[in-house]
Amino acid sequence: MKKDLGSAGELFPQSVFIVASYDEDGTPNAMNVAWGGECTRNEVAINIGDHKTTDNILATGAFTVAPADVAHVVEADYFGMATGRKVDKAKGSRLTFVRSDHVNAPVIDELPLTMECKVKDVRDWGGEKRFIGEIMNTRVDEAILDDEGRVDFGKMKPIVYDSTRRIYRVVGDVVGGAWDVGKALL
Ligand SMILES: Cc1cc2nc3c(=O)[nH]c(=O)nc-3n(C[C@H](O)[C@H](O)[C@H](O)COP(=O)(O)O)c2cc1C
Repeated sequence: MKKDLGSAGELFPQSVFIVASYDEDGTPNAMNVAWGGECTRNEVAINIGDHKTTDNILATGAFTVAPADVAHVVEADYFGMATGRKVDKAKGSRLTFVRSDHVNAPVIDELPLTMECKVKDVRDWGGEKRFIGEIMNTRVDEAILDDEGRVDFGKMKPIVYDSTRRIYRVVGDVVGGAWDVGKALL
């Protein structure tokens, strides 16, 4: 038996992207973004409402995106609850915000993988904004690289957001090779 659940989407997984930005005075901030993703190899889309981050990105034209890892689930959730309009989240998180060498936005040093983005396009969807960021650089902690220099998500253990229960899950096992296991049906 199948059941209709209505118009709310249940696409899974959703991202746990930590989007970091500076305000006009250079104060760092970060928020948690579930509605985001890579749209081409060099571009990232984030969909955000009326937040301090939104003001910051409009002011600076830049942001960084770091997929959260399991080691920083507490900080990731904090970034999604507190607002930079009221508190200093850089201080509150106890994480280290350093200036990107490539864009006018901070990089959070403890997060192992960060895309440094320049705003390429902004769309307004009834109050929500969709920012397309062009990736100017990807910065990675060598500890999550494999022997061939590729990012190894098995080592990083990224987390994803499960909106059905409002929980975070850790990304798990490899179940097959892409453009490979399907050959069984070719
Ligand atoms: C799991 C989770 C996912 C979230 N995803 C989004 C999102 O995709 N877009 C959005 O506008 N807000 C999202 N939020 C809410 C913002 O992260 C939150 O309002 C945050 O306080 C904004 O911070 P700022 O005002 O300092 O920019 C999410 C929050 C959580 C906990």
